Amino acid sequence: MVSIQSQILELLRSQQDILSGEFLSLKLGVSRVSIWKHIQKLKTAGYDIESSSKGYLLKGSPDIPYPWEFPERQGHIVYYPVVDSTMIVAKDMARKGCPNFTVVVADSQKQGRGRLNRIWISDPGGLYFTLVLRPKIPVAHSPRLSLLASMSLAELLREMIGIEAAVKWPNDILVNEYKLAGMLTEMEAETDRVQFVSIGIGINVNNDPSGIEPRATSLKRLTGETTSRKDLLRQFLNRFEQQLRQADLDHVASRWKSYSITINRKVRIVTSQNIFEGLAVDVDPDGALLLKMADGSIKRILYGDCFHINSSADKPLGSLFTQTYGIEKERS
Ligand code: BTN
Repeated sequence: MVSIQSQILELLRSQQDILSGEFLSLKLGVSRVSIWKHIQKLKTAGYDIESSSKGYLLKGSPDIPYPWEFPERQGHIVYYPVVDSTMIVAKDMARKGCPNFTVVVADSQKQGRGRLNRIWISDPGGLYFTLVLRPKIPVAHSPRLSLLASMSLAELLREMIGIEAAVKWPNDILVNEYKLAGMLTEMEAETDRVQFVSIGIGINVNNDPSGIEPRATSLKRLTGETTSRKDLLRQFLNRFEQQLRQADLDHVASRWKSYSITINRKVRIVTSQNIFEGLAVDVDPDGALLLKMADGSIKRILYGDCFHINSSADKPLGSLFTQTYGIEKERS
């Protein structure tokens, strides 16, 4: 059900003119007092609406991903100005039975989480969201969803922004070796049935993380321009949802490889227990990295931090275990 706020905004945007309270009330089938109240709510939410004796004129909208900005999925989007982590909220909602393709989005996070138990610095200006999926797939196939998500995002960034977005295994989005976005996937399952998969995505959009982490970048830094987070989220959700419907998950890894800058590179994989170095020769259909070791054997790596050896962004800053990457830092 499309809310009155969405409908008011749609009318004001489509006419780009002053619309009277009477016109809006007739069009939307609610009283003029109700229109006035909704306009007040929109103003409080940051919309620049000029009210006069003639009616209402929309002069500007904030770049905030309010649910009513996504009329087609309004019941499935939850927005917070600030939250500990969208992963925590999403997990709670998923456990309580929220529908497939529910989105939790926040302007900033106090305890944003990165992979391998690190923190993800989540200042205002970035886009931070978690998507809850309820796929009917075997548990072992769940990493295929993140492969599809990272590929969709790289594709979108290339088309929408015109940047050379590429994927570094497992699911980092890099531009010229600098980290632009990260992805964290969690899953809950019973026996071999997936209950839900949460895909958390953090994109540096109009924030500038490079002061905190020199190997990170943002769309603002790359283009010199501000990007609408609302548009980015809308387009990503539409694209990913469509690809989920159409994609053959059995072949997603081979498509993912065409966006990857990890394959055929010498890499160092750091896990909590080991460090492996070798040539990244392939990913298997479930997203595991196949590493050719010095002795010629092939090692299948399921998780870990991946560093491209000899890249400008691979300059160890002391111990590998205290090294930071992207805008993540070790949790203290
Ligand atoms: C990584 O590269 O380590 C993954 C970073 C994932 C960050 C996103 S931001 C939205 C969601 N909420 C979190 O706390 N983390 C993910």
